[in-house]
Amino acid sequence: MTNAVEYQLIDDVAVLRANNPPVNALGQAVRAGLLAGVMRAEGEAKAILIIGNGRTFFAGADIKEFGKPPQEPFLPDVCTRIEQSTLPVISSIHGTALGGGLEVALGTHYRIAVPSAKVGLPEVHLGILPGAGGTQRLPRVAGVENTMDLITSGGHVTAADALAMGILDAVEDGDVEAIGLTFANQILAQGKGPRPVGQLPRPDPIDFDTAHAAAMKKGRGQIAPATAIRAIEAACHNDLAEGLQRERDLFMTLMNSPQREGMIHAFFNERAVSKLPELKGIAPRDVQSIGVIGGGTMGAGITVAALLAGLNVVMIERDSDAVKAGSDRVSGILQGSVKRGKLSQGKYDAIMVGGFSASDSYDALGDVDLVIEAAFEEMGVKKAIFAELDRVCKTGAVLASNTSYLDVNEIAASTSRPADVIGLHFFSPAHVMKLLEVVVADQTAPDVVATGFALGKAMRKTAVRSGVCDGFIGNRILKTYRTCADHMVLDGASPFEIDDAMTAFGFAMGPYAVADLAGLDIGWATRKRLAPTRDPRERISTYADKICEAGHFGQKTGKGYYVYEKGKRGGTPNPEMMALIEAERTELGITQRAFTAEDIQRRYMCAMVNEAAKVVDEGIAARPLDVDMVLLFGYGFPRHWGGPLKWADLQGVQSILDDIESYAKEDAYFWECSDLLKRLVAAGKTFEDLNMGETV
Ligand code: CAA
Repeated sequence: MTNAVEYQLIDDVAVLRANNPPVNALGQAVRAGLLAGVMRAEGEAKAILIIGNGRTFFAGADIKEFGKPPQEPFLPDVCTRIEQSTLPVISSIHGTALGGGLEVALGTHYRIAVPSAKVGLPEVHLGILPGAGGTQRLPRVAGVENTMDLITSGGHVTAADALAMGILDAVEDGDVEAIGLTFANQILAQGKGPRPVGQLPRPDPIDFDTAHAAAMKKGRGQIAPATAIRAIEAACHNDLAEGLQRERDLFMTLMNSPQREGMIHAFFNERAVSKLPELKGIAPRDVQSIGVIGGGTMGAGITVAALLAGLNVVMIERDSDAVKAGSDRVSGILQGSVKRGKLSQGKYDAIMVGGFSASDSYDALGDVDLVIEAAFEEMGVKKAIFAELDRVCKTGAVLASNTSYLDVNEIAASTSRPADVIGLHFFSPAHVMKLLEVVVADQTAPDVVATGFALGKAMRKTAVRSGVCDGFIGNRILKTYRTCADHMVLDGASPFEIDDAMTAFGFAMGPYAVADLAGLDIGWATRKRLAPTRDPRERISTYADKICEAGHFGQKTGKGYYVYEKGKRGGTPNPEMMALIEAERTELGITQRAFTAEDIQRRYMCAMVNEAAKVVDEGIAARPLDVDMVLLFGYGFPRHWGGPLKWADLQGVQSILDDIESYAKEDAYFWECSDLLKRLVAAGKTFEDLNMGETV
């Protein structure tokens, strides 16, 4: 008997208590402990109760074991052995029964849970499918439709919903051991024995081909949900043993796929990204109240995110009309949440009365612990605001700018306390988007950096450290891959072909549809700002400026790369844009050439990887994983590739270098290869090696 599963005989019931903190993942020792516990119980008990110690039942297989040689006993065999026990086996669930955790519960004969428990099969989020009987046993208790929903979405359901679906037999308030023992003793008193799920009748089939096709379309390149549907199909046509074999075969296909590697990279690194060695032992400053300068879309979004995190917020606008407009924006967003059932009316009232206030005077900021400036993107404006903040804010207050590209060092220098100044770059809409770039300037104090990360955590954002450069990590890399796309358009690809190729790669939207959504005037302003610093070797295109000069800014004006009709989702290609592009090609004497979807994806991704490698090499991003998380959480990068630098590792860094060098023959300036990439290839290393602390 291992310590990972404690065994205790209480009267006639053998209690198997998993003890593998923090989440009772089903690692080898736990699996072995469960097996040994069941066998011992069969010699001396009349029923078996399985529970979890600490905060949860089993949260699933141990993900750290994935990709390593599997160790016996295997989880599917443990579940089957539990199901075949001669004694009635009961699971009593608290916390989360996820993945292999729910599969263990489905291997037991009876399942009860406390009301706060949740269950789910989230394997598709890891690029795999439930591999320990979940696709075979769940449809036998909950039907095919519920199973498909749970497995293809990877979502969690509440105990009440699980009871309604037939996954649970009862929901009881109380301590899991106590309610489990009562249930087990009732089973014994009623003379009930084992009730194996695998022996329940096969569920009724549905039109699986249609469901598979729909899942492939929805997955945008991600294969796990559609593959899981084929496993569920097997439950309808086979006995348990055959169905389990089919599930195993499909599971192994996914387990060996690069998508599984990409998804697991994302899982661990979204947790690792905020654990910076430099912050070890550094306590954040206490933040209870914040000020937000500006009540526009960004300021209102930041205000809502802060209010929902339980902070008091004072919003500052320039005059009483702007104060009212900003306050209306905040209440409008929160009322929308009330309407959608995401926020209770009581909580809304409490926030608006006790948490939120607005003023046209900076003096209202005298007591706040942190200020986020979300005003107009112009250095003069920012400097004036920070000088004012320096005047009114208390000693120790953190002064943050939400600038998306301006020099935070220069902003800090306009105060007498540069150590308290930091960049906190939110993404719009700030109450929705998960990414927060914490921009660390030369003199920013470590506890101010820690405060930025603590604020991000309180707001449930993925916070990533960035150094100072134009555009920080995300917008700097975006500028490069957008330029690459613009070059392809000049050379012969249409913006629509590029959007199609990149959505086929897995992005939710292509770059030109995104530009239309964000507003073409934003890119236009950036190009004008950067024009004086432009290198003469840079290839520039002017069609995007021309469409702006004609007053078309994308979705908000009804026309951009696409034409938008009121009431219709999405747009249709704008022939005027194509005419502008073709005129420019003629003017520049460019002979149009064809690009396949693969050509487009490869160039776009190589441009992204090359700039990302430079960002890492310059120390703007601390590690490759920081870049990956920025692109995943702020730029719609497909999670199943893990991020651009994980994608590069999966392709092989040598092949990326080869392609960049071949593109450089056409345009040596744009395709100047990252030195880090060259060093990695020369040393035979990967970006993952750098994440693990190696250097080249
Ligand atoms: N294996 C290994 N480690 C795990 C884990 C797992 N299944 N689940 C969580 N952890 C680790 C996390 O990496 C984290 O480690 P660090 O503290 O070192 O960063 C720690 O446990 C705590 O996790 P969270 O910070 O995420 O804690 P939380 O309270 O916010 O969330 C949770 C808890 C809901 C369980 C969440 O961790 C989660 O969703 N885990 C993944 C669950 C999952 O995907 N299960 C399916 C596994 S695949 C499977 O079971 C395959 C199969 O069919 C056989």
